[in-house]
Amino acid sequence: MSLIDVKNLHKEFVTDGVVTKVLHHIDFEISEGEFIAIMGPSGSGKSTLMHILSFLDRPTSGEFLFKGENTTEFDDKKLAHLRNSEVGFVFQQFNLLPRTSVFDNVKLPLTYTKKVQEKGKKKLVDDAIEAVGLEHRKNNLSNQLSGGEKQRVAIARALVNDPDVIFADEPTGNLDSRSGAQVMEILDDLSDKGKTIILVTHEQYTAEYAERIIKLKDGEIVSDSKEHYRRRKGLQK
Ligand SMILES: Nc1ncnc2c1ncn2[C@@H]1O[C@H](COP(=O)(O)OP(=O)(O)OP(=O)(O)O)[C@@H](O)[C@H]1O
Ligand SMILES: [Mg+2]
Repeated sequence: MSLIDVKNLHKEFVTDGVVTKVLHHIDFEISEGEFIAIMGPSGSGKSTLMHILSFLDRPTSGEFLFKGENTTEFDDKKLAHLRNSEVGFVFQQFNLLPRTSVFDNVKLPLTYTKKVQEKGKKKLVDDAIEAVGLEHRKNNLSNQLSGGEKQRVAIARALVNDPDVIFADEPTGNLDSRSGAQVMEILDDLSDKGKTIILVTHEQYTAEYAERIIKLKDGEIVSDSKEHYRRRKGLQK
């Protein structure tokens, strides 16, 4: 069974009676553990697709199955629950709380978790911070960090409640190439450990960390390929 199965998905926005068609005839499946990059020009629908896949928005028509269940039949409460428990987010702008410690930023998604006691939460936060190599910054305020460190905190926050999928929308967009590469190495490492990762990027070299690249143009999939990855692995042998 696929983790994600999208069938003939369409999305349009209606604003003041004006209809904007954004996604058309989108079909694909994503297996558990895949590392996927979504590419395409500005306005091609990458973020819109990602918002639907992460339960932030709904398709206008078509099906979106998550673990075999048709999410289009779920009510808002169920979608919110899935969003909180099954997915983690990393954004271009980091979206951290300023003047708040690294530790407390990473702990945020656990605030309303009742399953885990306070001591257990501390361990989960420490483990997530360790996974991104920021133990030495744990008590710093987030606004004292470099851009690359901020993004690593955002990844730790995305990881802390052990979601099935991590969505990263242009995670290297605000970083210099060295910090960007560090962030991609961490995502690569998480992928090796079995996390499903769905990345949006404009940059070909960033996309090539993923094993599969889906390209969108004007809201349609124009290619869905693993060719580059076979080449990359081939070169490494
Ligand atoms: N809420 C909305 N209402 C109306 N139109 C929208 C809305 N959200 C997105 N759009 C339109 O949908 C299209 C796709 O937007 P989207 O943000 O998905 O593009 P993108 O591929 O992520 O672009 P970028 O690379 O610039 O982030 C754009 O033309 C955008 O103006
Ligand atoms: Mg976008």
